[in-house]
Amino acid sequence: MNILETSFIQISSLIRNSNNLKLGSINSTENSSGDLVKELDIRAHNIIIDEIHKIPYIKGYISEESDDITFTSPDGQYIIAFDPLDGSSNINSNISVGSIYGLYLWDTELNGIGEIVVAGYCLYGPSTTLVRTQNESVKMFQLNQENEFKFISNLSLNGKSSKIYSINESNYYKYKNYKVKKNLIKYKMNNYSMRLVGSMVADCHRTLIQGGIFMYPATSKDPEGKLRIAYEVMPFAKIFELCGGASWDGEKSVLKNKIDLDNIHQKIPTYLGTKEEIYKFT
Ligand code: AHG
Ligand code: MN
Ligand code: MN
Repeated sequence: MNILETSFIQISSLIRNSNNLKLGSINSTENSSGDLVKELDIRAHNIIIDEIHKIPYIKGYISEESDDITFTSPDGQYIIAFDPLDGSSNINSNISVGSIYGLYLWDTELNGIGEIVVAGYCLYGPSTTLVRTQNESVKMFQLNQENEFKFISNLSLNGKSSKIYSINESNYYKYKNYKVKKNLIKYKMNNYSMRLVGSMVADCHRTLIQGGIFMYPATSKDPEGKLRIAYEVMPFAKIFELCGGASWDGEKSVLKNKIDLDNIHQKIPTYLGTKEEIYKFT
């Protein structure tokens, strides 16, 4: 399913051809998660919903920038959840940002959201890269000069063992899970490198390409962490697990969670990486 690809091409062009300071300026007040909304968050959201309204098999959407779920096609079988622009705080500095989506089955019996069936993201970095699941594989594409996504490679984490951890370590004294503090010390004792872009899409993409682990654990300030399950963590969990890696929420695989229609912006502690690295938290 080539969903949202035309939106990603438009967002990529907008980022590359606009004044980054304006795109990164504050648009209005706060969204449902309490984040300041930037001009590009809203522009990207509007581009994506225009495309979604044209897709009959999508019953409705959840966006980071909409308070509630929006139903678009009554006969649709899927719900799409998306983060139109991930890494908002990086826009004005010309640092990589991205878009994330997950496609979920609509459960007609329970009148709720079922399991995730497709996940993908687009990274607006030095090049524009699209990664998405296709059946049981994960495929990577790059936007070329003709504005088409060209297939580059399948992605897999098997055999990748680089010693990289990615976390906002300034929260060290706020982490609630003792294993986080223990492992942070172990990384230093075992000559790991720390890498953090501050855009989840870029940090997770590097982890998928090079190996290692990306984390956003629970803190005393954010008891569920900061990342939202429906349109950030579940899509990446699907991708990491299909790549032969693992996901963890502090207790179980992220994929064992369900999206709650009454709490669509719910957050969840996040650990994504190679199996070898995730096992250190289990
Ligand atoms: P968004 O821009 O969609 O609100 O997401 C930002 C997220 C994520 O991309 C990143 O990993 C995290 O926020 C960074 O948070 P901290 O600044 O607390 O590290
Ligand atoms: Mn985000
Ligand atoms: Mn966002």
